[in-house]
Amino acid sequence: MSSNGAGDRYLGIVGAGKAGTAIARAAVAGGYDVAISGSGSAERIQLIVEVLAPGARAVTTEEVARHADLIVLAIPLHRFQDLRRDLFAGKILVDAMNYWDEIDGVDGPFATAPAGTSVLVQKWFSSARVVKSLNHLGYFKFEKSRRPRGMPGRVGMAAAGNDPAAVALVLQLIDTLGFDAVDAGSLESGLALQPGGPIFGAGHTAKELSNLLSRAAVVPLPSSSGARI
Ligand SMILES: NC(=O)c1ccc[n+]([C@@H]2O[C@H](COP(=O)([O-])OP(=O)(O)OC[C@H]3O[C@@H](n4cnc5c(N)ncnc54)[C@H](OP(=O)(O)O)[C@@H]3O)[C@@H](O)[C@H]2O)c1
Repeated sequence: MSSNGAGDRYLGIVGAGKAGTAIARAAVAGGYDVAISGSGSAERIQLIVEVLAPGARAVTTEEVARHADLIVLAIPLHRFQDLRRDLFAGKILVDAMNYWDEIDGVDGPFATAPAGTSVLVQKWFSSARVVKSLNHLGYFKFEKSRRPRGMPGRVGMAAAGNDPAAVALVLQLIDTLGFDAVDAGSLESGLALQPGGPIFGAGHTAKELSNLLSRAAVVPLPSSSGARI
């Protein structure tokens, strides 16, 4: 078990909840070797993973970090600072987290992040290559919408980041997971992917996504204005 570098088929997922297990199912179906963790021991999530993401392996977060160069962070936003700042050094870190006031608190930096919460994630994990993605569809819609390339009804999924090579790999991941990948620009542009942004929560085609993103003068609304995902 170890990663062979960017472009391989290893995927790590931190967070074995609704989002993390949905992403794990899609990644296993797409041929990824998936390791997934919760906040505790591997044993604690073993059954959840066996039932909800068969084929993925339940491990600790430390093991996730060793497993892959491509790692999805799918935990409540207010919890990411529980993780060591150097845990993902050199890794591509897909930030699938959203800010929800009732979960993450109404005050503080997440509520007011002017360039989006992924910029704060990048600041914390300064040696990681953060890409915002996999956050703008609810897990149910994610599950129901994913399908092979070329199949009618395929929807788009956007990725935003400042490291073009990292974004390119995340776009490949998105395609493998069953979505048409759309480059949304810089990490700061990831603001448009957040709750209240123009593409959040809806299952748009890639073309619709591109159009909405290019027109986006994004002013995120309070998180209570939309269904929470
Ligand atoms: N639900 C959706 O449809 C959806 C869709 C897209 C994005 N998101 C975003 O994805 C994130 C997770 O949402 P969710 O709905 O999947 O939440 P959830 O069902 O409550 O699951 C949260 C998971 O995160 C784990 N976790 C918490 N703190 C952790 C830590 N410090 N280290 C490792 N794992 C930790 C929890 O493990 P323990 O149980 O061991 O604490 C649990 O497995 C949120 O930011 C959410 O906005 C959600």
